[in-house]
Amino acid sequence: MIRLGVNIDHVATIRQARRGREPDPVAAAVLAVLGGADGITIHLREDRRHIQDRDVYLLRETVTVRLNLEMAAYDEILAIALKVKPDEATLVPEKRQEVTTEGGLDVIATESATRPAVDRLKAAGIHVSLFIDPDLAQVDQAKRLGADAIEFQTASYSEAVGAVAVAAELAKLEQATAHARGLGLHVHMGHGLNYQNVKPIVRIAGVEELNIGHSIVSRAVLVGLDRAVREMKQVMQEHYPNPRKPG
Ligand code: PXP
Repeated sequence: MIRLGVNIDHVATIRQARRGREPDPVAAAVLAVLGGADGITIHLREDRRHIQDRDVYLLRETVTVRLNLEMAAYDEILAIALKVKPDEATLVPEKRQEVTTEGGLDVIATESATRPAVDRLKAAGIHVSLFIDPDLAQVDQAKRLGADAIEFQTASYSEAVGAVAVAAELAKLEQATAHARGLGLHVHMGHGLNYQNVKPIVRIAGVEELNIGHSIVSRAVLVGLDRAVREMKQVMQEHYPNPRKPG
């Protein structure tokens, strides 16, 4: 089965609306794991708009599954990552004005910043994933930079309108996944995935992990987090290609 990493940034978004103590992402992580999350994902942004430093340290101590820290290659954030040692660090692009991450990291254009960040994280024993577009040249560069994994941005897929455009985005993801697996890279996907559009994604051979936040936290506001996570896992399981039965 494909792993589900639950991104709990938006639990912290609600807390930061009042700059108070609740809801606590640490409690959310416990419930997400009870609901079946295989990993917890958080993005420590330079502007600290949702996840705070204290969350990162507490989650490192309390999360019992894989902790994936999304981060831009800023020195200050890198220093925290090296101290905290998440199981995985995912390098993402970050702009102050954006509402959320827009597009993948261009690992060719940003090589001078990305390469040293990958090297330092890897030297600290942290698995490194690069959040990129499903583009073969970007995949090749991720391999050259020594990444362990890549996470394909699924924003273009999830925002595509009409069957033809959706099919074209899926084809890009499929082709890029096959290429990356051929190079020995682990393949993750995320951004904009929800309970509907996740179905064709889990049918792509070679995908190992999905990182999903907004749709799960949105459902959790209405039905509770453990149920929201369980329902996402159920959709993923139902659409995952069944292993061939022996005989
Ligand atoms: N993966 C990455 C690299 C992201 O930056 C985000 C958003 O923080 C996600 C996955 C989750 O996206 P969404 O909240 O749209 O599910």
